[in-house]
Amino acid sequence: MKQNIKLVDVTIFTGYSYIGLCKEFVWIPGDRIGSKQMPSRFIFRGLHCEYDVEALMIRKDLYLRTKEGKEYVINDFQITDINDVENVGGVARNFDLLFEKFPEMKSVTAGEKVIVSKKTQVFAFKAVSDMINQVRVGHGIDAKQTIEVSHTMVEEVLQAPDAIMNLMDIKSFDDYTFTHNVNVATISLLIGVAMGFSREEMDDLGTGCLLHDIGKLKIPLSILNKEGKLTDQEFAEMRAHPTYGYDILAKSKGISERAKMVVVQHHEKFEGSGYPRKLKGTEISLFGRICAVADVYDALTTDRPYRVAMPPYEAMKILTAGMDNHFDPKIVGVFIRKFSLYPAGSLVELNDGSIALVLKNNPVSVVRPVIKIVIDSSGRKLKERIEINLLEYKELFIKGPADPSRMNVTASSI
Ligand SMILES: [Fe+2]
Repeated sequence: MKQNIKLVDVTIFTGYSYIGLCKEFVWIPGDRIGSKQMPSRFIFRGLHCEYDVEALMIRKDLYLRTKEGKEYVINDFQITDINDVENVGGVARNFDLLFEKFPEMKSVTAGEKVIVSKKTQVFAFKAVSDMINQVRVGHGIDAKQTIEVSHTMVEEVLQAPDAIMNLMDIKSFDDYTFTHNVNVATISLLIGVAMGFSREEMDDLGTGCLLHDIGKLKIPLSILNKEGKLTDQEFAEMRAHPTYGYDILAKSKGISERAKMVVVQHHEKFEGSGYPRKLKGTEISLFGRICAVADVYDALTTDRPYRVAMPPYEAMKILTAGMDNHFDPKIVGVFIRKFSLYPAGSLVELNDGSIALVLKNNPVSVVRPVIKIVIDSSGRKLKERIEINLLEYKELFIKGPADPSRMNVTASSI
């Protein structure tokens, strides 16, 4: 599969941390041990990387992003000191050789790393698209399949109730309509687990979230996909989708009232300025309030035709800024605790200006992981390994992801 991608056009990062640009890589043919051919290895050369590679090895997956925004992941990647290498097979500047010789490298697509398995996701996409077709031909929907999908998703989520979710895991690059429904359901179910919901509540929450935007099927595509500003009339039509959704579900058998509330209330805002009914605080059902948080988070972090996806920490900032007015602060609090903002391997900037590498997350506080300072506040690169548990150093805190310009790199963007 020829991609015709030059390596110089590829940025390299782990998790959310930018590592650098790289001009070429060295290819080392794998040894033959007995009858077994070991896989080839690749070493990136000329990589601008300002922190020590030893620490980087804690993050085993390496992400490569092309100019077009396509992402690839290499799992179990090893960074090796170039001086130790013998038997160099060749030097390449084209990305294609990586594809040819390194079959483990795969495109980052929806579902591969999500808590909910790929199989269930496919099942969910099918259930939602079947329902879309039923609505299009004017029938009430048969929700049996969607309820079943929700049930399976709940089972999978319940298998890892204590997981701190890496926000990267939920990122997807496929069809927005389908992945969005599944993502919103997954995020909501994780919040539901953290809030101690019963099995029945989880099933209803999952079903409601999978169907939350079903009313958009009644909105003309010319409005739905319009890139420019909507007219007042178009805006009013758009804002009718929760009510349309409720009406569709009212004609359907088997959907609980709780699930229907998610559909009709997911755009209500906590302080009362939402739609369609301007409900306030606990007038909005708990499930509706959960879906509102999950919906906005997923919409912000996904590429859309009119907007490039926002990094998770930026989206998280928007959610926290919306606490007390748009969203239920209790639910945003649960969300922040449940999701890992800075996965191991991320580079972060501290309030004193130093740059640190995240080594391990603390389950009690995802904003206070165990870190290692790599560049101190005076800009000096540290060779010695100073580990700091941010839970024990309250005067230090993470300001945000590290700015790549601090690492002397020349990336145009991350
Ligand atoms: Fe919506």
